[in-house]
Amino acid sequence: MSDQQPKANPERSADRVPMEKIVSLCKRRGFVFQSSEIYGGLNGCWDYGPLGVELKRNLKDYWWRVMVRERDDIVGMDGAILQNRAVWKASGHEETFTDPMVDCRTCKARLRADQLPQKEGVPYCSVCGSRDLTEARAFNLMFVTYVGATQDESSKTYLRPETAQAIFVQFKNVLEVSRKKLPFGIAQIGKAFRNEINPRNFTFRSREFEQMELEYFCAPEQGRELLEYWLKERLRFYENIGLPREKLHVHEIPADERAFYSQGTYDIEFEFPFGIQELEGVAYRTDYDLTQHIKASGKPLDYFDEETKQRFIPHVVEPSAGVDRTALALICSAYDEETVTDEKGKTETRIVLRFHPRIAPVKAGIFPLLKNNEHLVAKAKEITALLRPHMMIFYDESGAIGRRYRRQDEIGTPFGITVDFETLGEKGDELKDTVTLRHRDSMKQERVAIKDLLGIILPQL
Ligand code: GAP
Repeated sequence: MSDQQPKANPERSADRVPMEKIVSLCKRRGFVFQSSEIYGGLNGCWDYGPLGVELKRNLKDYWWRVMVRERDDIVGMDGAILQNRAVWKASGHEETFTDPMVDCRTCKARLRADQLPQKEGVPYCSVCGSRDLTEARAFNLMFVTYVGATQDESSKTYLRPETAQAIFVQFKNVLEVSRKKLPFGIAQIGKAFRNEINPRNFTFRSREFEQMELEYFCAPEQGRELLEYWLKERLRFYENIGLPREKLHVHEIPADERAFYSQGTYDIEFEFPFGIQELEGVAYRTDYDLTQHIKASGKPLDYFDEETKQRFIPHVVEPSAGVDRTALALICSAYDEETVTDEKGKTETRIVLRFHPRIAPVKAGIFPLLKNNEHLVAKAKEITALLRPHMMIFYDESGAIGRRYRRQDEIGTPFGITVDFETLGEKGDELKDTVTLRHRDSMKQERVAIKDLLGIILPQL
């Protein structure tokens, strides 16, 4: 099938793709839309479209696979978004989950005090430039809500700002039913809500987002070692979904900047187009959380070690990742443009998302060469039915074949399968029931038997 030859685009460095291009592609192709768009949007909230939801699902499924299903020492749970307010009192969130905030007296903008730009050491409003700002005040990031028909202090609670607390609160129940011994972990994926003062950088800092969290419980003497272990495991995870190691950075939080109860915290960061920013925190939280809930609830959340006959409160190492941030990192990292030249010497820019096949939203595009040839269409639909139970596919019969390839390149589909007259046996029996398999990144094409397609594609997903 006709395709073009790639040449790196000298005008663009893959490392410096402007965010506007990412945002525009995300909207144009259905990865991410502004929430409530037809009503002017809702700041800090995003809706994922057909491709975005597939990307996130692949990411979460892979996380669940390697963190829960492939391990003996980790089980999953799915806690409620609404918890008793006592949970948030005990965890410290009601008291201290705050950001410092200032108001601009000139334009009335509300801003994060620790993110203000400065001129000659004096902070100024990032919206209007005024230096007339209020003193910083603590602003609690939790969304308040009320449970039941009355709306007063007695019915007040919050939308959870992290998934982790449900794990601590259910620690004893999960331990008993799963009959695990330390070290063991509880994993959870779910929505979290924070009323961020300045949501920004597209989905990076949102008010509603998803977390993938593991609380890995252990004996106190194992904590430090397990912190290092989980840092390595998590870096390996990001490489396995296609984020290049050189774009991942590890930032060790200095002792005077981390939470007082933490005995070590690493941030895993990624080189986004807007700077190097946190993807995940890996924190050794000691026995702080369980101790808080023991004190507040009066219930025993300790552990009895059958071998040593000792009873103690487990320590915990917590790798806590953001689904939305990782999805954004995957899109930014995958985005590429190159100049391609066709046989007639005509050049054009090819936009391609170089997703790892494992997380690509659509795995294969299936194309009958001509849409008005019933035999080609029937064969292509047969292949669609063959692959569909195993992977997300996209059947496309409209437009020139080069255009169809290009549309799939732009959404990162790793394989293109074209049914042509050779497939039908019109050019001899040798090529009957074979198709052209086109590889997205190299644009190389090979002739393969239909019966071999699953065997070639599946191991790469
Ligand atoms: N339980 C620990 C905890 O919640 P965190 O560092 O506040 O730790 C963990 O959050 C991860 O959740 C972050 O590394 C980030 O990936 C994601 N996250 C936090 N706030 C976010 C926001 N406003 N928008 C998108 N993702 C966010």
